[in-house]
Amino acid sequence: MNLPDLTQARKRTKEKVVTELYNTNINARHIGIGKTYYVKTYGCQMNEHDTENLKAMLEEIGFQEVIDVEKADLVLLNTCSIRENAHNKAFGMLGRLKHLKETKKDLIIGVCGCMAQEESVATELLNKHKEVNFVFGTHNLHRLPDLVFEALSKDKKVIEVFSKEGTIVEKIPVKRENSYKAYVNIIYGCDKFCTYCIVPFTRGKQRSRMPKNIINEVKDLVHDGYQEVTLLGQNVNAYGKDLDINYGMEDLLRDVAKTNIPRIRFVTSHPWDFTDKMIDVIKEYPNIMPYIHLPVQSGSNRILKLMGRRYTKEEYITLFDKIRNKIPGCTISTDIIVGFPNETEEDFKETLSLVDYCKFDGAYSFIYSPREGTAAAKLEDKISIDEKEKRLYTLNEHLNKYFLESNKKVLNKIVPVLVEGRNEKGKLFGYTDTFKLINFNGEDNIIGTIVNVKVTDSKTWSLDGEIDG
Ligand code: SAH
Ligand code: SF4
Ligand code: F3S
Repeated sequence: MNLPDLTQARKRTKEKVVTELYNTNINARHIGIGKTYYVKTYGCQMNEHDTENLKAMLEEIGFQEVIDVEKADLVLLNTCSIRENAHNKAFGMLGRLKHLKETKKDLIIGVCGCMAQEESVATELLNKHKEVNFVFGTHNLHRLPDLVFEALSKDKKVIEVFSKEGTIVEKIPVKRENSYKAYVNIIYGCDKFCTYCIVPFTRGKQRSRMPKNIINEVKDLVHDGYQEVTLLGQNVNAYGKDLDINYGMEDLLRDVAKTNIPRIRFVTSHPWDFTDKMIDVIKEYPNIMPYIHLPVQSGSNRILKLMGRRYTKEEYITLFDKIRNKIPGCTISTDIIVGFPNETEEDFKETLSLVDYCKFDGAYSFIYSPREGTAAAKLEDKISIDEKEKRLYTLNEHLNKYFLESNKKVLNKIVPVLVEGRNEKGKLFGYTDTFKLINFNGEDNIIGTIVNVKVTDSKTWSLDGEIDG
């Protein structure tokens, strides 16, 4: 049994990261034959992509996917720790599964992902949740077949969570959700340690994949007809800094662009590591989409300092203006946290004034949630939750006004759209190059292709359009 330790997880070593190849355990190969599985995913794109690996590994050992959780023989929760409500959702689901297990004694329940990396959660799962059969973390996801084998064959609880990252494992099987757009990991972990954030603890130190492994994965996707890749990392701009090969994000973007994949996106960019060279490459290659997610978190220099974000409001604005001026038509979205401990009305007004200046094209806004083990969680906080909720409401009113303004700018224009499928109203939907959601009528045969659509109506969160031509 291996339980995580937060103190260990916080430490960073200079040790070189080793890359190894995924290896299927022969023992486990047939253990799932005749059985079904269901995976529930919480959290960010990284977790969604991890789930694509988890599903493929389960299928390799014989399990088949079902869409109704009640019909599954094995249920796996891929969890997220970023805020309290993500925690609550996962524990709520566990309550439901415990109930299900009372009538279905053979049900196997697994918990993985970022919550499993938390010392207190792993201990609670061990001591208080008899219904859980196996637990593993983000650092040993590739061990799933072995862990399922152990849980099934030895009939005992299996807990294997490592506090520290190990090797980078290449060629883990993947069952992609989609046959035209794909996620590709480029860098794991995070070394920024923003004071409110748990990710550096749950995902370990910053580790870049070798460029050739990334490029080869993208080339395979091009070969299979994929139209779009999203390069993933908690801070993609730090790509390459941990490799001694003098190769950074701008080099990677250029090499990925040269594979001729029609669309390239990347998330998330930390303003600190965003270089002029990157801006030049994004501008130079038409297949790098003119859309950047650039989280600001706050507009108050006092709060930015307490958050450990490493830039001032003025530096953020300089970068923001540079991107807008150098890359024509580029849209920019952001993340904002309200109610960081002792955020004053003045601090909050600074955030609103930054929003009024930047007029973001999109944004995610959150109320600060204290996370165990982080530096900010130790700060005393005098601001009431009512006050924080009011601020979130006010912030969203400002943000929404600018989303609509941004969407109105493309009214009557013709925009390129990767068609993703049908919405619940039966219309086709997809995203523009600038990451605007658009709905329109059309035939099924264009799903998975890029088409030109004329914008006929602009709303706050989406556009309506009609196919051009
Ligand atoms: N690596 C990305 C963010 C990953 S988490 C970056 O640095 O931009 C996604 C967003 O969740 C963050 O941008 C932040 O706005 C929010 N977030 C992170 N920790 C939080 C916390 N403790 N409470 C509230 N929101 C949080
Ligand atoms: Fe968290 Fe900051 Fe790292 Fe983003 S950069 S994952 S907010 S510590
Ligand atoms: Fe959540 Fe882990 Fe992603 S905490 S946001 S699933 S990296």
